[in-house]
Amino acid sequence: MSHLPIRVNTLRGDQKIDFDVYIKIADKMILYVRKGDSFEGPRLARLKEKKLKKMFIMPEEESLYRSYVQRNISMAYDDKSGKDIQTRTEIIHGQQQSNVDEVFENPETVEAYQTAKDGASKYVQFLMNNDAALHSVFNLENTDRSLSHHGVNVATLSIGLAKRLKIEDPKVIQMMSLGALLHDFGHQESSWDRSKPISQLTPEELEIYKQHPDLGSARVQDKKHFDQMVINIIAQHEECIDGSGFPRGLKENEMDSSVIIVSTSNAFDRYVAFEGLTRAEAGKRMMLERVGRHPLNQIKFLIELSKG
Ligand SMILES: [Fe+2]
Ligand SMILES: [Fe+2]
Repeated sequence: MSHLPIRVNTLRGDQKIDFDVYIKIADKMILYVRKGDSFEGPRLARLKEKKLKKMFIMPEEESLYRSYVQRNISMAYDDKSGKDIQTRTEIIHGQQQSNVDEVFENPETVEAYQTAKDGASKYVQFLMNNDAALHSVFNLENTDRSLSHHGVNVATLSIGLAKRLKIEDPKVIQMMSLGALLHDFGHQESSWDRSKPISQLTPEELEIYKQHPDLGSARVQDKKHFDQMVINIIAQHEECIDGSGFPRGLKENEMDSSVIIVSTSNAFDRYVAFEGLTRAEAGKRMMLERVGRHPLNQIKFLIELSKG
């Protein structure tokens, strides 16, 4: 009987699992986490260090796994569950990452996209209703330089900015958030070595890196289930309002306001996720390197937001 893959990002929080979890080493299934364990604190950190995207369960325990995930999510979204905001955020952040990974691996699957889209609107609600959640997101370190973790953080910052900018249309915020979650889809297609800061790429590597918005948008352009705003964000999130971005060198009046917000948030989280800077250092670098390239009020709001 073959084991079923599950996403590591769906295992979060202090709820004990009632199924065994295996990892695969040299084609052998090794029991890694036992029934009765949970995934917070040190165990979660150790798991992240392993950089595993998938682990495995026995097929006969699939329904136990599914109801664990369901219980976890409902508890995390329930404002009255009595759980602390950090645990709730950890579970929800993990679920959002898992939604992103699913679309990245299966962009042609309508269901994966729809799940990410529904998830994005729940995430917007969660952040809008819980001011402390935004800071709980900052406490989750992107130790494995994961693209989906970065996507969730860019969505988080974008939602924080939208709130400050008093953008109220829920449809607009949902589309912007979904675009932010999926913005770096193009890196699925290119061979960017994420262990190296972008500032240290060779000219050849930088050339390849700069193709990711076009590669990503070209890949989903013809997929009817992708919303146009999401495609625009994948294509334009590296553009800057003064025309200094790539790949088109668009100017402010050629960019949608949602694209501009995601671009600012992306510039900020990139310093943290891929250049190894603290949030305070990222804020300083934004002021040094990005003024004029993003709206100044957005840069200032992000610096305030990241201070907590
Ligand atoms: Fe990007
Ligand atoms: Fe990015």
